[in-house]
Amino acid sequence: MQNLIDIKSLEKDEILKIIKLAEQFEEDKAVSTCFGENLALLFCEDSTRTKFSFEMAANKLGIHIYNFDANKSSFSKGESMKDTVENLYQIGINGIVIRHSEAGIVDKTVEEVVYPMKFINAGDGNHAHPTQALLDFYTMRKHLRTVEDKKIAIIGDVRHSRVAHSNVELLSKFGANIYFCAPKYFEDATQDVIFTKSLEEALKDADIVMCLRIQKERLEERIPIFDYVHDYGLTMKKLEQFAKKDVLIMHPGPVNRDVEISSEVLDSNYGKTILEQAHNGVFVRMAVLDLLLGGKS
Ligand code: CP
Repeated sequence: MQNLIDIKSLEKDEILKIIKLAEQFEEDKAVSTCFGENLALLFCEDSTRTKFSFEMAANKLGIHIYNFDANKSSFSKGESMKDTVENLYQIGINGIVIRHSEAGIVDKTVEEVVYPMKFINAGDGNHAHPTQALLDFYTMRKHLRTVEDKKIAIIGDVRHSRVAHSNVELLSKFGANIYFCAPKYFEDATQDVIFTKSLEEALKDADIVMCLRIQKERLEERIPIFDYVHDYGLTMKKLEQFAKKDVLIMHPGPVNRDVEISSEVLDSNYGKTILEQAHNGVFVRMAVLDLLLGGKS
């Protein structure tokens, strides 16, 4: 693994290697092989979970972390991403985690930069969020052991969601039956999924339900929010009516309470897996950083 740009570039055995190492880190059975490396967190879009968990993961591995403040950087003076990153390399940075609103910017930067740096995509526009998909897979496996032949319903703004796109790339490699459930205005042309407008159809026999936030920052037009919440907001009543009792409820975060999921669901036992996802993200990101920056585990 040279960089982590998206899931489609990873083979199944590379994914399983990350998951296995994450398990070992969680169980204190692996040690860092990247102590003393220098990692920059270049976040040009807001983040809570991804940024903090990369920071926590790097600290646990003994990596030096450098937070790049995009709003106070020389981007404001017109410096390009390539020039910024190449200057960071000369200063001593050898790994870089990028979050950006532009889909494809991480691939583009990897192609442009001539130095041997390691790149991790922490979310680029609606394109990809590979570490989120990996931590989601890690969480699913903990509960269900395998996703093969499991019904996984991803509900909400699938069109603008990099999380949905990366999850489909990953889960389809491992034989899951993936449903996208959304109104027409969020319909998406992703391959390897069954699309339905019916929440009842999506919830019926689902093993996992993943709710998504409306990506307001990427909407092209206003949406009828009250109708949306009525038809697609996940409530206890809808779960009791249509879903299996032991369905696993997931959400990448951040959650907009009482929009895509009700507070009642979120604050019940169903909501616990969502916090578990954040917890698991640290070990998955430790594994990714160790394999990229150390690679001797
Ligand atoms: N899931 C996720 O990417 O959350 P943040 O935007 O808070 O990093």
